Amino acid sequence: MKSNKLLKLFISLFFILSCISCNRLSKDLHDGTFVGTGRGHNGIIEVEILVENGKITEAKIINDHEASEISSKAKDHILAAFLKDQSTSMLDVVSGASITSNGLLDALDMALAKAQGYETTTVTYHDTSCDIVIIGAGNAGLTAATEAARNGANVIVLEKMDTVGGNSRFSTGGLNAAYTKEQERLGIKDSKTSFFNDTMKGGKYMNDPALVHKLVDESAGIVEWLQQPFIGADLSDVGIFGGSSHKRAHRPKGGGAIGAHLVPLLSKAAVENGAEIRLNNKVIDIIEENGAAVGVTVSYSGGKYNIRSRAVIIASGGFAANPDMVVMYQAALAGFGTTNHKGATGDAFAMVKKFDAELTQMEYIQIHPTVSTSTGIMVTEAVIGNGAILVNKSGKRFVNENETRDIVSAAILKGPGKIAFIVFDQKVRESLKAIEGYAEAGMLIQGATLTELAGKLGINETVLEESLNKYNKFQAEGKDEDFGRNPNSMNHQLSRAPFYAIEVAPAIHHTMGGLKINPNAQVMRKNGNPIPGLYAAGEVTGGIHGAERLGGNAVADVCIFGKIAADSALKSLKK
Ligand code: FUM
Repeated sequence: MKSNKLLKLFISLFFILSCISCNRLSKDLHDGTFVGTGRGHNGIIEVEILVENGKITEAKIINDHEASEISSKAKDHILAAFLKDQSTSMLDVVSGASITSNGLLDALDMALAKAQGYETTTVTYHDTSCDIVIIGAGNAGLTAATEAARNGANVIVLEKMDTVGGNSRFSTGGLNAAYTKEQERLGIKDSKTSFFNDTMKGGKYMNDPALVHKLVDESAGIVEWLQQPFIGADLSDVGIFGGSSHKRAHRPKGGGAIGAHLVPLLSKAAVENGAEIRLNNKVIDIIEENGAAVGVTVSYSGGKYNIRSRAVIIASGGFAANPDMVVMYQAALAGFGTTNHKGATGDAFAMVKKFDAELTQMEYIQIHPTVSTSTGIMVTEAVIGNGAILVNKSGKRFVNENETRDIVSAAILKGPGKIAFIVFDQKVRESLKAIEGYAEAGMLIQGATLTELAGKLGINETVLEESLNKYNKFQAEGKDEDFGRNPNSMNHQLSRAPFYAIEVAPAIHHTMGGLKINPNAQVMRKNGNPIPGLYAAGEVTGGIHGAERLGGNAVADVCIFGKIAADSALKSLKK
């Protein structure tokens, strides 16, 4: 790849990403007004800066949806400091409003980049060729790109959206891995057998055992790979999700969101190692010759072009944001909302028809039980994993909260109003950074006492108090007599005020079916043979999770099979 193109791309990515630790540049500014955007908690934050005589004289927000008091204070603080410093280099996120702060800083960075003369959108693309084309810049695609480029391949990643990350941008969960050094350090006794058995049981034994073995066997290795300096992930906190026997969901210190952590690190690593990422470039066809995949046709604002390649990796995600397709495979899900980003529309499935590719288990579509009814934001299962309980509108527990998502969702949908409340205390809040994002989004209902909380929820205070007292007794005894919840997810007493609740209901979360692959991530034809040149990884594939995926297995899946797809494609280049 030409070095000036690489530089341009790196700069635009650098500013577009939710850059938690980016090194914000300073350079001469052109006069004029410049607009930039970043992603806040509730959507896009758009800013405009005015530069006069090489100085920033005004900086204002022209569009945003961050309404809470703390986020307003954060915005005022950052804008004032930005004007004073004439740069974002010394600015840090405001505690309690980190997502808003990062979104605003990214928007200011983008506007600054434009004022500095870096153009991000005027590229014209022509027919070209490369070693490996990757469709989709979510975590699977970015992992594949990093691995392939690091090993010397000439890689182009095509992303139809205007940003990298796909659904992984919203992933607050963790990466399931067993028998890791982090678990050993924390004294967690887990095993590969337990991870395998949990995954198969969660999937109702419909999973492809060979793929599950691969997932389990590679899991500790992927944690170490992500922790290496060329990526630098922090996976030092280990929690638990439904259906897991042991704590194995690896995530950043303090229970931070895994996706917001990994996406910027992986895209930076991919680009630094020489991969080219083309945003707003949609693959509309995979080119076939003599039954093999030999490239793609791409559509972008300037027209269409072809890329010839020796391998194509499909990492384009699932179809949970395509209601027609969801209902085609699962009529019962008509009318459900989704946790997914709007690009999760399953475009790849039509493109592989000509290869006679096998689709598997398309009807297995997961609903996530705890999606905020007020904002549509998914409340990570880690809140329950760190000790929260679920109560219904009567204030009573009604299910083993640490069960798999299908069971918890079904129990909520059977209850009054088809909603539930996640209830927890200050101690749980302090144990999980992700909760601060929910506070920022105004999702937490807070009571200084349980009585006050019950009043706000419209629940009889005695019933709510009894539910917590009973749970606390089970927690102390290490045995949930009512629902059999795993004691590993009953971390402590729910007794430290203030108390909190979030109203939740289920929404479509993950499409578990997809392209049939073998353990080398080769896409399989209906006749049982791999399709030459065609590989796939992540939610676009099927068979790993069976009928129900365990929380934490998606991040493991996308990273592990993203890397395997790259390794298999690399091997094919040597033939
Ligand atoms: O609940 C969650 O944080 C979701 C995680 C996952 O889907 O793996």
